[in-house]
Amino acid sequence: MKEKVLEVKNLTISFRTPNGLVRAVRDVSFDLYKGETFAIVGESGSGKSVTNRAIMGILARNGIIDGGEILYRNQDLTKLSEANFHEIRGKKIGMIFQDPLSSLNPTMKIGKQITEAMLVNGDRMKNRIKDLYHIEYHDYLNKLQEIRLEKQRLINESANIKLDENLTLKEKTEKINKIKAEVKENIAELKKDLPELKTKYLESKKRATAQVKQEKEELIKENKATLQALNDKLKAKKLDLKEAKDEHSYQAAKEEVHKITKEIKDAKEQLKRKFKVTKKEAYEKAIQIMKEVNIPDPEKRFHQYPFQFSGGMRQRVVIAIALMADPEILICDEPTTALDVTIQGQILDLIKQIKKERDLSVIFITHDLGVVANMADRIAVMYAGKIVEYGTSEEIFYNSKHPYTWALLSSVPDLETKDKLLSIPGTPPDMLFPPKGDAFAERNEFALKIDFEEHPPFFKVSDTHYAATWLLHENAPKVEMPKIISDRIARFKQRSVGEQVDESK
Ligand SMILES: Nc1ncnc2c1ncn2[C@@H]1O[C@H](COP(=O)(O)OP(=O)(O)OP(=O)(O)O)[C@@H](O)[C@H]1O
Ligand SMILES: [Mg+2]
Repeated sequence: MKEKVLEVKNLTISFRTPNGLVRAVRDVSFDLYKGETFAIVGESGSGKSVTNRAIMGILARNGIIDGGEILYRNQDLTKLSEANFHEIRGKKIGMIFQDPLSSLNPTMKIGKQITEAMLVNGDRMKNRIKDLYHIEYHDYLNKLQEIRLEKQRLINESANIKLDENLTLKEKTEKINKIKAEVKENIAELKKDLPELKTKYLESKKRATAQVKQEKEELIKENKATLQALNDKLKAKKLDLKEAKDEHSYQAAKEEVHKITKEIKDAKEQLKRKFKVTKKEAYEKAIQIMKEVNIPDPEKRFHQYPFQFSGGMRQRVVIAIALMADPEILICDEPTTALDVTIQGQILDLIKQIKKERDLSVIFITHDLGVVANMADRIAVMYAGKIVEYGTSEEIFYNSKHPYTWALLSSVPDLETKDKLLSIPGTPPDMLFPPKGDAFAERNEFALKIDFEEHPPFFKVSDTHYAATWLLHENAPKVEMPKIISDRIARFKQRSVGEQVDESK
């Protein structure tokens, strides 16, 4: 069994707007395994970006996580305080967006942008102290966050009650007052632990600071001794140089002086690196990663501005920035949509390559199933804020069961005819008022009566493949995927077999 690196459970997110609550993500669950590429596919507005922005902890201010969990290394990211999230965002979980220009600063040299985070977060002694009192500090912050979330719950639930048309004004007031009392009680209970948690964290911080201070002094002492020895050696060699009797011994002494001078410089740099990330160190790492993402001539490119790069090269820079922190998870939100087809292929290949080399877990978001055909291990199809089908790439491409997935498959441009077979008729539902049953029913030519009334549960197709469609119910009429799509899939299949043969040559 592969290791799970991220678990999203029943995630539900809405946005407060002047017109009411937009139900952007509704009860979404999925796991991400180590080293896999998990694609999330769906039309515009289906909730792909919102889901992933929640994982990154960068939801818009009017966004509310109504429920669910995002588990990363046993921590629920939905309940993490901002300071704790800072340890994860961009470090453990990196993200690249559709438009590389919007993620780059046009007035700052590329090299500076690539090394910035490493330098800013590079105080190693400070980080070491933080690591030492991390557990107690986070316990304290998380308690504060629980209190904050409880207050937020009051605001959210009150807003929901106010919008409920089935309640009278009196009933609304009563309900809100009940929640108010409940929240007040919960907060009082939560606050009880605060003083003790605070004392614990402050004590732990004090201990950590003293310990690191001592470590620092020892390092300096050690280094001083090394430097002293080197300096003595240098002095002696300089004397040799001065007193050299012939050309041969002069040259030999000169070389020695050179060597020791370099050793001294290195020893100083090594000491500096123990305290903080040095500019030289950040530069070396940036050049290495620029090479990894295939930016040619990195030493020259390091000193250039974004406008001097093509779209594809800019996206490589953005990927380099994400890789600087050696993340474990990389979220790619439509990273190739703004690029032309050839460049798109190159960036997809690059993501595939770095994923493999670094054993990264990738979440790849796209509206185009065609894009992920050759790169996703598993695919989830999203519609109107819900996952409607998920399975391995094979299962989704060759054996999909949800009519919406069929519709997506049919809207992938055909390489042979160059045109889209079908476009999906109708428009996605208004998420201010999500439909009661299957949100796709309105646009689904195979819709059953129940589709308009009740949301379908997930039906199991295989251990790895599930689809939420009433068509899979044992009493539903047998509906096969439209022939026009199955023919097309057969062609797909043939072609990808052909490609694999090509690759193995
Ligand atoms: N800040 C916000 N305020 C109100 N509604 C929002 C906000 N952000 C997103 N939404 C709504 O949430 C829903 C999901 O949006 P999301 O950006 O996740 O879609 P998407 O699947 O990424 O689509 P696209 O392919 O267009 O990027 C949409 O209905 C969108 O209008
Ligand atoms: Mg999006």
